[in-house]
Amino acid sequence: MSWIKSSFLSIDSFVDKFKLQKYAIYETIVSTFNNKPDFPHAAPMGIIFKDDYISIKPYKTSRTYKYMDKNRCAVINFIDDLKLFYIFSQEDKDMSKLMDYFKVVSEFTTPIFKNSNLSIEVKVLEDVRKDDIRAEFKCEPLNYIYNMDYQKEFEPINRATGCVLESIIHSTRISLYRRLNTPELISKIDGLISLLKHYRRIIKKVYPNSVYSWIIDDIFNRLKLE
Ligand SMILES: Cc1cc2nc3c(=O)[nH]c(=O)nc-3n(C[C@H](O)[C@H](O)[C@H](O)COP(=O)(O)O)c2cc1C
Repeated sequence: MSWIKSSFLSIDSFVDKFKLQKYAIYETIVSTFNNKPDFPHAAPMGIIFKDDYISIKPYKTSRTYKYMDKNRCAVINFIDDLKLFYIFSQEDKDMSKLMDYFKVVSEFTTPIFKNSNLSIEVKVLEDVRKDDIRAEFKCEPLNYIYNMDYQKEFEPINRATGCVLESIIHSTRISLYRRLNTPELISKIDGLISLLKHYRRIIKKVYPNSVYSWIIDDIFNRLKLE
C-alpha cells in the first residue's frame, strides 16, 4: 500500500481536496496515547471541520477525554469498517488485545489505524466547554496521511448500514447512562432500548446473516437486553 503524507495548510483547502464539508459531523475513530508511553488507545468520536479548527467533543467520563486533555494530541482516523466502530466503542475493550490494528508512522506522534483511509494528527488547543459534562476540544490539524490505493468499491445501499451505526451509538449511551445512574439519564434508557429493538427488526429483515446481524445480536447480549 502506498501512503502519502503531508502538512496541513488550511481547513478550506483540505476539505476541498477530500470533498468533505465544513460543519458536517463525520464519525471517525480517534486514536490517542494511554498514559503509558507507546500504548495507543482509540474510540469512535464525531468530528466537525469548523472555519479555523477541528472540533472533537468527548464526554469527560471517557478515556479519550482524559488522554487528549493530558497529552494534548490525537489522530482522527477516517475508517469505513463499522465492525471497528463497534469493537472500539466498547467500554470494556481490552486495548492490549487490539494493538494489531495500529501502526506507527514517522512524523506522527500518535499511532494511526492500519486500515484508515485518511488520518489527521491534531494538537489539542483548548476545551471551550470547561463546565460541561462533554468537552469541546478545539484542535489544530498538523499533518495528514492517506492511502493512495484506496478506491471505494461499489456498495449497494442497504438500510442495515444506518441502523447498525445508530445501534452502536445508542449502545454506548445505554452503558454510559447506566454507569452515571442519574434519574434523568435512567429515564432515557427505555426509549433507547425501543429504538434498538426497532433497528434489530430492520437489520434482521434487510441483511440477515451479515456482520451487521452479528453486531446487533452482540449488542443485545452485552447489554443483557431481550
Ligand atoms: C459513531 C460513534 C460516534 C461517537 N461519538 C462520540 C463523541 O463524539 N463523543 C463521545 O464522548 N463519545 C462518542 N461515542 C461513544 C464513545 O466511542 C464510547 O463511549 C467509548 O466507549 C468511549 O471510549 P473511551 O473511554 O475508550 O474513550 C461515539 C460512538 C460511536 C459508535
